[in-house]
Amino acid sequence: MSNNIIEIKNLKKNFGGLKAVDINNLNFERNKIISLIGPNGAGKTTFFDLITGFTKQDSGSTFFDGKNISNLESYKISRLGMVRTFQLTKVFDRMTVNENVLFSASSLKNDRFLNSLMKSSITSNAEKELNDKTAEILNLVNLYHMKDSYARELSGGQKKLLELARVIVQQPKILLLDEPLAGVNPKLSEDILSLIGSFAKQGISILMVEHNISAVMKVSDHIVVLAEGSVIAEGNPEEIRSNENVVTAYLGKSND
Ligand SMILES: Nc1ncnc2c1ncn2[C@@H]1O[C@H](COP(=O)(O)OP(=O)(O)OP(=O)(O)O)[C@@H](O)[C@H]1O
Ligand SMILES: [Mg+2]
Repeated sequence: MSNNIIEIKNLKKNFGGLKAVDINNLNFERNKIISLIGPNGAGKTTFFDLITGFTKQDSGSTFFDGKNISNLESYKISRLGMVRTFQLTKVFDRMTVNENVLFSASSLKNDRFLNSLMKSSITSNAEKELNDKTAEILNLVNLYHMKDSYARELSGGQKKLLELARVIVQQPKILLLDEPLAGVNPKLSEDILSLIGSFAKQGISILMVEHNISAVMKVSDHIVVLAEGSVIAEGNPEEIRSNENVVTAYLGKSND
């Protein structure tokens, strides 16, 4: 098994005349917290959309866990274990918090998790196991007390937590987080960062887009910098902080 969970070659996407993504060669090592940073419009979300099958690529190849997933439908990619969140948080407003998590688990028919549940001899056992798992996850993200509230009643930060619950119930191999801290207060940011840390400790690889640079510097094992669709630097936090191209393109001189 390769040490890389994701391997990308010549990945390209244009929107009309605009080169949104143009990446020659990029690998992500497994079991790391990796951050993808860069200016607004650098192509970070488009990059997520491409590798998770939400946007069709113009050309290139993406291997996930040794399997070529280029042009695979998004639901197939998530069933393989690459699961994402969205920059504009996606939850089902008309479902309760609890139903949101249950639905996320049940949308994964054939998935490893549900398979193992379905093997339970009695279906009610499977249901109980799923309910227990959901309760455990809602406790973990500190939303258990709101499990019967409609998701539309949650604050923006709580919706971020619910989205994390919805992705983690799918037992991903890699989690792609698009700005998990955006619009979140400092205390909740700390909570979310420690959740991300605990996911990583469970062996889930993390790929995170985030503009909160101090958080990025604190938690990342490795950082990739994107500008105008291409990788302009990668390295550990210290290397990125002192990289002049990165300072010019994104961080600015006042960064400490
Ligand atoms: N569906 C689309 N149609 C046309 N242009 C698009 C589309 N999606 C993205 N773009 C353009 O592609 C470029 C990259 O956008 P993208 O959303 O990937 O940037 P980003 O790095 O995620 O930025 P931010 O940090 O602001 O979220 C931008 O110039 C954007 O306007
Ligand atoms: Mg974005």
